[in-house]
Amino acid sequence: MKTVNINASKSYEVYIEKGSLKTAGELAKKISKGTKAAVISDSNVAPIYGETVLDSLRSAGFEADMFVIEAGESSKNPENLVEGANFLLEKGLTRSDIVVAMGGGVITDLGGLLAAMYQRGISLLQIPTSLLAMVDSSVGGKTAVNLKSGKNMFGVFYQPSAVLCDSEVLGTLPVEEFSNGIAEVIKYAVLRGGKLVDILEKSDVTPYLDELIEECVNIKRDYVVSDEFDRGDRQFLNLGHTVGHAIERGSNFSVAHGSAVAAGMCIMARACEKIGVSSADTSKWIEKMCEKFALPTDTDISLEELYNDSMADKKREGKSLSFVMIKSVGECYLNKTDATYMKEILTLGNGGER
Ligand code: NAD
Ligand code: GLY
Repeated sequence: MKTVNINASKSYEVYIEKGSLKTAGELAKKISKGTKAAVISDSNVAPIYGETVLDSLRSAGFEADMFVIEAGESSKNPENLVEGANFLLEKGLTRSDIVVAMGGGVITDLGGLLAAMYQRGISLLQIPTSLLAMVDSSVGGKTAVNLKSGKNMFGVFYQPSAVLCDSEVLGTLPVEEFSNGIAEVIKYAVLRGGKLVDILEKSDVTPYLDELIEECVNIKRDYVVSDEFDRGDRQFLNLGHTVGHAIERGSNFSVAHGSAVAAGMCIMARACEKIGVSSADTSKWIEKMCEKFALPTDTDISLEELYNDSMADKKREGKSLSFVMIKSVGECYLNKTDATYMKEILTLGNGGER
């Protein structure tokens, strides 16, 4: 088993091991003194893995039930959050009990917020089942639901008590969802280079999944530990995300988060090249990786729409926005400047001239 310790305001472990899903109950017992557990999952994941986790929790002595929401980004909403809270109350969970969020990023975000808010905070075990959730959303404590006019606009920082990654479950993940997760892996590779570049360049990454997840979590750990509340260095993790979130919104969420981030990174890389910050090889490598994993390198959404959406992004602070600029694969820097700089980035990144 691989273990990564996240020593943030709460210290917890991320466990990475094939076949570990059936040990969820033992792990829940380690982190909670309670007697009740509520699994939060979605309509795709629950039918495949729900029984395994419920059985494991019951064998460990928990009274366990499951709350299932419709799969998809549109379920990450305040209504499901309140329904989830009512479910916990109906099942009689108290503050010593535990919420187990089992699913992709929609579930780790919504389940995390539910655990943070229910009776002002209850233990949380994250069981990410998509690659994106394993390498990113289950670690670091960002939780949220979307509001009608804004993504992730309603949330808090709340660290889990443990994270359990069983990469065997990726066997049932649809291939396009695997690609969405790879977009975040490419992001970490662009931020830090090293081992991830070698793994991504292999003809088949599947034999290296646990290593890949561990390396991504190690990188994320560094940013989270140094800047848990996202005031400084953690903003590096937003590489490709400001444009990406605008693409998600502009497409009415028909473009998935990972795909939107991939296109956002490519736009950023091309803009950095035009500005003279990076060499042509840099954007070529990022585009090549996106194409290899069937991720978009561009978007059809108009520049104007993207620009207006970027200005509504919650990463904006007053008039300024932190841009993650790409120097080379493995070297980026933050440029906190006037948010309107986004217009230039979008124009240059989409083939326009200054
Ligand atoms: P998702 O949760 O919608 O999962 C993608 C799809 O895969 C869903 O249909 C889901 O049911 C299915 N699925 C998941 N695991 C499966 C499995 N093992 N077998 C079969 N089907 C499976 O989306 P996602 O890409 O995992 O996550 C995207 C979300 O994560 C977005 O809402 C994004 O904002 C959020 N996010 C949060 C953070 C954070 O730090 N909190 C970071 C990145 C992304
Ligand atoms: N996914 C960005 C972060 O966790 O900060």
